[in-house]
Amino acid sequence: MIQKPKGTKDILPMDSYKWAYVENKTKDILENYGFKEIRVPVFEQTELFERGVGDTTDVVQKEMYTFLDKGERSITLRPEGTAGVVRAYIENGMSSLPSPTKMWYMMPMYRYENVQKGRYREFRQIGAEIIGSASYKADVELIVMADQIIKAFNIPGVTLNINSIGCPECRAKYQEALKQFIGKNLETYCDTCKTRFEKNPMRILDCKEKKCKQLNQGAPVIIDYLCEECNTHFENVKKSLDTLKISYIIDPGIVRGLDYYTKTVFEFVSETEGYTVLAGGRYDGLVQELGGQKTEAIGFAMGEDRLIDIFEKYNQTNEVAQKTPSLYIASIGEIAEEKLQNLALALRKNGIYIETDICARSMKASLKYADKTKSKYLLVIGEDEVNTNTAKIKNMQTGEEMDVKLEVENIIKEILK
Ligand code: HAM
Repeated sequence: MIQKPKGTKDILPMDSYKWAYVENKTKDILENYGFKEIRVPVFEQTELFERGVGDTTDVVQKEMYTFLDKGERSITLRPEGTAGVVRAYIENGMSSLPSPTKMWYMMPMYRYENVQKGRYREFRQIGAEIIGSASYKADVELIVMADQIIKAFNIPGVTLNINSIGCPECRAKYQEALKQFIGKNLETYCDTCKTRFEKNPMRILDCKEKKCKQLNQGAPVIIDYLCEECNTHFENVKKSLDTLKISYIIDPGIVRGLDYYTKTVFEFVSETEGYTVLAGGRYDGLVQELGGQKTEAIGFAMGEDRLIDIFEKYNQTNEVAQKTPSLYIASIGEIAEEKLQNLALALRKNGIYIETDICARSMKASLKYADKTKSKYLLVIGEDEVNTNTAKIKNMQTGEEMDVKLEVENIIKEILK
């Protein structure tokens, strides 16, 4: 039997309603903050990610699904959404739109990862990007919105961790200090870290190798090297979060695994599961890096698969339930079947969820199926019922039976009572 590729999942009909619930609820919040949906291609030119995400990141060096297409072009399945959204922003001249541009997306992403709990090769993200604001106020609006989204799902034990990783000016000084620290043990680091030392020493801090992680302990942190502007920006973000009573922890260890970040970075971490559910930050240089005007921006992406995993584990709300039929109609005989067809069509056109037998089952099997579908009401039509234009409608939960005229309005009145 052919099986699905490692690190992918099937979202089955008995589970997909949970995904729809999370997506609809998140979408409502995003839209109330003025975000509009954007959809970009699943695959892009590889160069977009090499330049956007950074060619010394784990994502680009180790995790991309890259291939040559039949025209010998190097193509990559998107490992994340921001680079594609920014490319679309530039390519479609969106800087001429009223600024800032606020966009959201729900898209599958592809990373060749070591598959483990919460870490998949195909996973879905719900992301939000604000392009065109340098103000700390954009950081605050975005973090507050992310907090509202996380809280909407009543998930226990999620903390907001924030940090600032400064601008290229602060980074130059910081990188010198970091190189001094790492340089003492460079020979002991893994080969990838060694290649990153000159070009991008900060990436050594997110190496997943055990020995490198140990060597990194006690490394200088960038927050101690912020320039005045970055420091004031970060102070303003923190002050506003305090005012809004959004709890957070300052974690100087957050460096984020993608190169485009500047200034504020943040992660909503599930303490119970030990992974990050939503993460993002400012990326003031990316639009320019990809060929646009200097345009400051900030965004985040929520790992939908991770959120759903936790949601399934802890959420007790009965707001989320699989939709069940309002009415199951069964018929005996040809004339009754005709009546059934007409009634089912008319009721469905009125927005009522109707199930009927489409397998030519016996009445007994049909009623058993009605039970399995968890239909609220049952209506059985035979020749007598057609002749009198009246039938019994049964409440499947209470067993109560009621005479009802076989007219659409009467049936709707009865089942919506
Ligand atoms: P990221 O931290 O790489 O950031 O991913 C964001 C979130 O996606 C993670 O916190 C996690 O919940 C989820 N995620 C990442 N990798 C996997 C995986 N292999 N399996 C399951 N879930 C995963 C970004 O992607 C940035 N583009 C976010 C951003 C948007 N920054 C600014 N704007």
